[in-house]
Amino acid sequence: MKKLIAGNWKMNGSLAANDALVRAVVKGMAESTCQVAVCVPAPYFEQVQMLKAGSRLELGAQDVSQHAEGAYTGEVSAAMLREFGVRYAIVGHSERRQYHAETDALVAEKAKAALAQGITPIVCVGETLAEREAGKTEDVVKRQLAAVIHANGHCISEIVVAYEPVWAIGTGRTATPDQAQQVHAVLRAQLKAATPQFDRMQILYGGSMNAGNAATLLACPDIDGGLVGGASLKAADFLQIIAAAR
Ligand code: 13P
Repeated sequence: MKKLIAGNWKMNGSLAANDALVRAVVKGMAESTCQVAVCVPAPYFEQVQMLKAGSRLELGAQDVSQHAEGAYTGEVSAAMLREFGVRYAIVGHSERRQYHAETDALVAEKAKAALAQGITPIVCVGETLAEREAGKTEDVVKRQLAAVIHANGHCISEIVVAYEPVWAIGTGRTATPDQAQQVHAVLRAQLKAATPQFDRMQILYGGSMNAGNAATLLACPDIDGGLVGGASLKAADFLQIIAAAR
């Protein structure tokens, strides 16, 4: 299976910075064979769509509304994403769960709304430090993924899963390859019970992935790529991660 390296720019970027970053990524990824995406703030969809034209770089969003259209001020629909060539939408990022009170059920609805427009949801799951220390890691990630499986039925094979331990995000404290692999194996087993396609579904790791640790994480049997925050904002670092995924 091809690996997927997806950058999550979060609320970073500017017209000038994006121009330099995307041009460098497009140029530098020419030799790679893995799948590459950048999930950018919505106002930059059109800019990045133009910058990536003719390359294999895919465009992603960082969220999507669960609603199709209507009186939902500030929301962006999956159909709107599609008009700008968006291929992926992150849903259920821990920053959305934490700062916007997104529940498991809402995340599942968002995944459904993306799939209905042919957009691949990158569904994030992950435990907090307190949950890990209480021995609840498996319960938490299984509960989060179960909601999405329940709401999406056989379409579940079309999603990408991202394991992002909350304590590893933006902290420089990465999960060890063993810690990550252990959770990825749990998620794979859960997918196996849900779909015969479980083996070709990508499960990404996210949380302080960088140029130095990417290769060992990506060498784990159930780690099929990365969801990269900080390091995706620096072309050289992001390209090293892409090179590590081949
Ligand atoms: P960092 O790579 O900055 O830790 O962020 C990870 C993340 O949240 C990607 O979605």
